[in-house]
Amino acid sequence: LGPVTTSESKLKHLVPRLQEALVEHLGHDGGKRILSLAVERVLSRPYSMVIIWRLKTQDDLERIVSKTVVHHPENLAITDRANQAIVEYEILLALSRRFQQVEKCSVPRPLAIIPELETYIMEFVDAGNLADDLRYARYLAAREGFDCLAEHYYHCGCWLRHFQEFTGIRRAGPEVLDAAVDRCADRLRLIEQAGDRHWPAGLGERIMTFLHEQQACLSGEEVLVTGRHGDFGPWNILVGSNGITVVDFLGYREDTIAIDLLSMLVLLENECHCLTSSGKRLAAVRDRFLEGFGPVPPVQRPVLLICESLHRICTVWGCISQGRDDIRRRIERGRSLQHNRDWLSQLGKRKLLWPAD
Ligand SMILES: Nc1ncnc2c1ncn2[C@@H]1O[C@H](COP(=O)(O)OP(=O)(O)OP(=O)(O)O)[C@@H](O)[C@H]1O
Ligand SMILES: [Mg+2]
Repeated sequence: LGPVTTSESKLKHLVPRLQEALVEHLGHDGGKRILSLAVERVLSRPYSMVIIWRLKTQDDLERIVSKTVVHHPENLAITDRANQAIVEYEILLALSRRFQQVEKCSVPRPLAIIPELETYIMEFVDAGNLADDLRYARYLAAREGFDCLAEHYYHCGCWLRHFQEFTGIRRAGPEVLDAAVDRCADRLRLIEQAGDRHWPAGLGERIMTFLHEQQACLSGEEVLVTGRHGDFGPWNILVGSNGITVVDFLGYREDTIAIDLLSMLVLLENECHCLTSSGKRLAAVRDRFLEGFGPVPPVQRPVLLICESLHRICTVWGCISQGRDDIRRRIERGRSLQHNRDWLSQLGKRKLLWPAD
C-alpha cells in the first residue's frame, strides 16, 4: 500500500473488502486479474471518506475512487434514513447511462457497491473543482479564465435541466416540503445553540413560524417535484476539457423542483461578499447558468420562500460553524452572515432570487 495518512484502522479494514469487491466486478467485466491495489490519496471529510486508488491489472494501470459514508451527528437525518452508498450508487448508475448522450455534462460511472461497508466504487474523474475557478469572477482575473468559468456555469444549467428530465417531473402534495422545513428547524437549532452575537435570540422561532405559515398556504395544492441532488454547488462539480461532472449524491431524493436551482443562485449571490469579487462578472455567470437551464418552471411563491430560506439558513450556519481563518475570510463571512440574517428576518418581504420573481 502507498502512504496512509488517516483513519488507519478503517482503511486496513476497507482494503481487503474493496479488493474482494473489485475482483468480483472486474472478473465479470472481461476477466481481468488485479495485480495490485494501492492507496494514492485519502480525502477524509466530515460526511465521507473518499479514497483514490491505483489499480494495476494485467493490461492496465488506472485510478478508481471509493466513497464510504461517515455518520456525522449533523447529518443523521440523511444517513439514518437509508444506506447512502446504495442511494448514491443507484442514482449514479441510472444517470451515467442517460448522461452519455449529453455533451459536456456527466456524472462518474459507478463500478461496484459494498453495502455492508457503506461504500461504493466509481471511476476516477481527472478534473479540477469548479469552486476553485470562481477566482476568475474577481476583479483583474484573466479574461480567458472568466470566459471558461461562464461556460462551465452554462453547462451546470444544462446539467440540472437534464438531471430533472432524467429523474422525472411530477406533481405531489405539499408534504414533500416537510424535509426542507425540518432541515431549516435543524440548522436553526444549531445556529441558536452556537450563540453567535450576530444572531439575535428568538429569530429562529420567528422564521420557523413564518415557514409553517407558508406550508399551510399550500394546503390542498400540488407542487412540482423531481430528483434533488441536495448539495448542488461548485464544490461538488468537477471541471475539465470534457465539461462538467457532478459528484456527491449523498441525500439524493425527490423534492421540489426549485431546490437545486436555488442552491446555486444563493451560492452565486453569496460570492458577492468576497472582497475582491466583481458583481458584474458574477451576474454574467448567473445569467449563463440560467441560460443553460432554460425557462424556469412555474413554482408557487411559498415553495420558493421555503427553499430560499433553507439555503440562506445553511449559509448562515456555514459562516458560524467555519473554523478559524484569516482576517479577510472572517470579514467576508461576517458580511455574508449579516446579509442572509437580514434577508431572513424580513420574513418574505425581500425580492426572491428565482428569476420570475
Ligand atoms: N469520481 C471522482 N473522481 C475524482 N475525484 C472525486 C470523485 N469523487 C469525489 N472526488 C473528490 O472527492 C471530493 C469529496 O467527494 P464528495 O463531494 O462526494 O464527498 P463529501 O463528503 O461531500 O466531501 P465534500 O465535503 O468535500 O464535498 C470531491 O470534491 C472530489 O474532489
Ligand atoms: Mg461534497
